[in-house]
Amino acid sequence: MTQINNPVVGPRVIVALDFDDMACLERLVSQLSPLACRVKVGKELFTRFGPAVVEKLQKQGFEVFLDLKFHDIPNTTAQAVRAAAAMGVWMVNVHASGGRRMMETCRERLTGLSNPPLLIAVTALTSLSQADLAEIGWDLSPVACVQRLAALAADSGMDGVVCSAQEAAALRSQHGESFSLVTPGIRPATAARDDQVRIVTPRDAMEAGSSYLVVGRPITQADQPAEALARINEEIKEWLPELDSNQRPND
Ligand code: C5P
Repeated sequence: MTQINNPVVGPRVIVALDFDDMACLERLVSQLSPLACRVKVGKELFTRFGPAVVEKLQKQGFEVFLDLKFHDIPNTTAQAVRAAAAMGVWMVNVHASGGRRMMETCRERLTGLSNPPLLIAVTALTSLSQADLAEIGWDLSPVACVQRLAALAADSGMDGVVCSAQEAAALRSQHGESFSLVTPGIRPATAARDDQVRIVTPRDAMEAGSSYLVVGRPITQADQPAEALARINEEIKEWLPELDSNQRPND
């Protein structure tokens, strides 16, 4: 399967908009600039507010990662991915554990679209420890599990994977520069760990080869969200060459 090339341009931080309340969402988003971040709409927000919330964010200039982690039979998953593409989202994801045929069908269903979303596979959730993986029958270390699913995803035509930044260096060397590594579980050194197990700082994640950093609560629950975002962008500024320091928003 041919892989699509994805040179990274624009913001590296994807703010996870994990809200169930429109007023809270609007208050947060009004403080952020689409020049400083992309945004992630996940299951909670999408289940409550549907495509309207995606459209609203897009109208404000944000590129949207629709994080619904589709996992179903090949046709159903591929049609969901196509529906996401019709909404004009920038990135969409499926579970790599849905298997090769599922991922290949998703890729085929996007072929021919003029501006398809990045198609990303979830490997192993960063909240899962080795004991958690063993309990669901995945008797591999988290690293081996991620590597296996990432190799399958790459071979099935995915543009990249969601993984822990702790696995990013190995995946970067195995899959080359055009393979997107989307890494949640990011915590600035001073932030709370919350329920994440495998966490990494923004700078260490970029050094390990991350393409995009998914950051939720360290920004969304901060007293000053724009400042929290600006501090992260400052920490990773050498990976943001196109954002001139005079123009960098939210500084
Ligand atoms: O608040 P926090 O920074 O922990 O948010 C992380 C976000 O990344 C959440 O929206 C979570 O669903 C998502 N995510 C994750 N681990 C994965 C895939 C997605 O934490 N493997």
